Amino acid sequence: MKNIPVISFCNHKGGVGKTTSALNISRVFASRGRKVLLIDFDPNAHASLFFGAGGSKYDSGHFMQGKNHTACRIKIMENLDLIPAGRELFQAEKIFPGISGCIKPINRVREYGQYDYIIIDTPSTAGIIINTAIAVSDLIIIPSLPDFLSLQGVNLLLGAVQEIEKKLKKNSVYAILFVMTGKQDSQEEDVLRWASEKLASVKFRQNISNDPECRAAWAAGKTIFDFSAAAAGREYSVLAGEIAERTGQAL
Ligand SMILES: Nc1ncnc2c1ncn2[C@@H]1O[C@H](COP(=O)(O)OP(=O)(O)OP(=O)(O)O)[C@@H](O)[C@H]1O
Ligand SMILES: [Mg+2]
Repeated sequence: MKNIPVISFCNHKGGVGKTTSALNISRVFASRGRKVLLIDFDPNAHASLFFGAGGSKYDSGHFMQGKNHTACRIKIMENLDLIPAGRELFQAEKIFPGISGCIKPINRVREYGQYDYIIIDTPSTAGIIINTAIAVSDLIIIPSLPDFLSLQGVNLLLGAVQEIEKKLKKNSVYAILFVMTGKQDSQEEDVLRWASEKLASVKFRQNISNDPECRAAWAAGKTIFDFSAAAAGREYSVLAGEIAERTGQAL
């Protein structure tokens, strides 16, 4: 079975760039020739709607119940397929396999051997979906705004990670990604300095700047790369290298 890293973007806090990061990192990997399966685990389906893939027959809810990924996926671009979110996913609490069984659908994708990365976008609601993403991931990326209140959100997520580690008797690998940085307030400087000192090993070196082009690209339904030569695009490219490094891959 091919060892395909599973990377999820998780934070119980909303609006912290989980979907933006999942889309743009998928796009960087795909453009560098890595085959990516992006799974939309958010019932709000932002990533799916972004790619015009709302209302598909099969969604990530079917996939988690055992439907083959080849029936659920949609080709988005060269090297990038998406398993969209949809109505079935709304019933996740009822239909998702428990924490110990949830790795099976992922392993079937691994057996198929076609992809280099599986990337998961998650909702902000606590519950079975985030817990499943944590359980199946080789790398949990926690996007956070650079302020002290947002660090509480990181702590909350790490609490969920620890509970799952205990249940599954495994060590999870996670890393914090500071997003929307550069707003030039003094709290941000304090947070980033503190994080560089205290969290150096679990913090990405690359931050993602607050970049109005990101918002505009989103509104236009484009990844930042397909929209403009904005700073955030260069930053996501560098970040992709760090992510590859943390999953033991070259990019
Ligand atoms: N680097 C950035 N600079 C400026 N705006 C950004 C940046 N990254 C994301 N945004 C904007 O912030 C908003 C929230 O981003 P996004 O939807 O990716 O967050 P999320 O964590 O997935 O939210 P949710 O919890 O609602 O799913 C969007 O309007 C997006 O365009
Ligand atoms: Mg989102």
